[in-house]
Amino acid sequence: MTPRNILITGASSGIGRATCIKLLKAGHRVIGIARDFSKFSCNDDAFTPVTLDLEAITTLPTQLQKLAKEQRNIDAVICCAGRGQFGSLEEFSYEQINALINLNFTSQAYIARAFLPILKQQQRGTFIFIGSEAALQGSRKGSIYCATKFAVRGLAQALRDECSKSGVSVSIVNPGMVKSEFFEKLTFTHGDDAANYLLPEDVADAIALIINARAGTVLDEINLSPLKHVVQSKPAG
Ligand SMILES: NC(=O)c1ccc[n+]([C@@H]2O[C@H](COP(=O)([O-])OP(=O)(O)OC[C@H]3O[C@@H](n4cnc5c(N)ncnc54)[C@H](OP(=O)(O)O)[C@@H]3O)[C@@H](O)[C@H]2O)c1
Repeated sequence: MTPRNILITGASSGIGRATCIKLLKAGHRVIGIARDFSKFSCNDDAFTPVTLDLEAITTLPTQLQKLAKEQRNIDAVICCAGRGQFGSLEEFSYEQINALINLNFTSQAYIARAFLPILKQQQRGTFIFIGSEAALQGSRKGSIYCATKFAVRGLAQALRDECSKSGVSVSIVNPGMVKSEFFEKLTFTHGDDAANYLLPEDVADAIALIINARAGTVLDEINLSPLKHVVQSKPAG
């Protein structure tokens, strides 16, 4: 295994945190982006936390260009940061629509814009997006969330076509419900049975499969789901 320099967003919690732990254990150097690292205290010298609000879309390009200049030897970028917000379309304010699109889609496109030139110049590299089952099928109360995930999937597919000649692979992982902090502010969750949810570590395993694939091989998309699809409303209050 060749140690690599891997940038990952959403590193402080859930899927991103589990992926950081797995990559660090495997001997990689990890640069993690999030707003609040109190949820992931990591003393590993190979881990560099970078505090950045990916929803602050107007200042993001400058901050990403600065980071890309500092981190010129990145081998892989994993876009994991995101949040869920669900409801009928008319329950969203116009500002809420923009904010969710900014975090779940526009910030991913900006990160790709900032780091792809580096990977292309190196003639090697891996870009991994975390989509969702919501990137595959639209569903009730998910109009904006599904739209952002469809958009991420479209971005991944187009970039794959655009980048392959430059030696850069692009993959997307589409999980079903994952037991993480994602559900903390939502009115529903997965059921308690272990067959009703994926663990963040399950998704980290899929990401590792992509990272470890033989050069010249691309795992275009990985779709993984819990055995049983259960959506449970939380008690009100
Ligand atoms: N959990 C699921 O059922 C599920 C299913 C399919 C897909 N997904 C997708 O998987 C990804 C990770 O979700 P998760 O389950 O790991 O959720 P999570 O535990 O809530 O983690 C979300 C991560 O995104 C970061 N983040 C949120 N807003 C941010 C912002 N404005 N700027 C920078 N970082 C921000 C959070 O860090 P800070 O709060 O510290 O900023 C955190 O590290 C998301 O894209 C989500 O849509 C989740």
